[in-house]
Amino acid sequence: MSITEKVLFILESARNGYTSGEEMASQCGVSRNAVWKSIKDLREKGYDIEAVSNKGYRLKDNNDIISAEGIKARLSENLRKADIRVYESLSSTSDTAKELAIKGALHGTVVVSASQSQGRGRKDHTFFSPEGGLYMSIVLKPDKLFTADSRKITSFVGGAVISAVKELTGIEPYIDGVNDLYVDGRKVCGILLESGSEFDTGDLQWIVAGIGINFDSDIDSFPEDVRQRASSLFAAGEATITKNALIARVIEKILNCQPK
Ligand code: BTN
Repeated sequence: MSITEKVLFILESARNGYTSGEEMASQCGVSRNAVWKSIKDLREKGYDIEAVSNKGYRLKDNNDIISAEGIKARLSENLRKADIRVYESLSSTSDTAKELAIKGALHGTVVVSASQSQGRGRKDHTFFSPEGGLYMSIVLKPDKLFTADSRKITSFVGGAVISAVKELTGIEPYIDGVNDLYVDGRKVCGILLESGSEFDTGDLQWIVAGIGINFDSDIDSFPEDVRQRASSLFAAGEATITKNALIARVIEKILNCQPK
């Protein structure tokens, strides 16, 4: 982790309170001047950081930038070493995760993007993926899962997203279709599970669980045909939780809460 990443991790871990420059410097093992430079870097990247004399620094509530540090700050200790890759934009997080899986990425590798230019759904449908949503794909290894039964894994992932959303927002989506999540008759989340196996033995080698959630998306800007059927957990700019918090809870539910 760079110093700036460490400072961001500290700020994300203590969102409701202030951390002094001295405390951060000691936690990062650097000078207060180095901390100040990192704060400046983060502000340039768009973070709104409050500085109060005699108290220290604090991330203001309006910060909702997706980052690996912001996600890890909300994960259990055992998941903090996971390979979590965050992008502002990708063609598809599942395409990137599949490339990583083919190259041998570990169970629990996560690819997240704030938007996708070629988001994919089932049956070659496109999945409209503008900013305001959250798009993530998790590499799963069959030997680390409670079952290799595709139907059980599919419903487990759908259930994991539902409980993550419910615990953090009070909203309880329901499953319709193969694994689409709906609220009041409108789709808020699409889930696509893909896998790779050895052709000659049929052995399952990896699964990529791709999850796209309309978080605080501006539904009015969606293409007409999608807009009729889609909804978002929150209205644009009115989220009561951060995207990092929901991403972390989904990861936690999938990687740490498998049925026995
Ligand atoms: C569907 O609605 O048929 C499933 C949509 C799945 C969308 C997610 S978003 C993250 C991941 N990347 C993709 O390209 N697709 C999945």
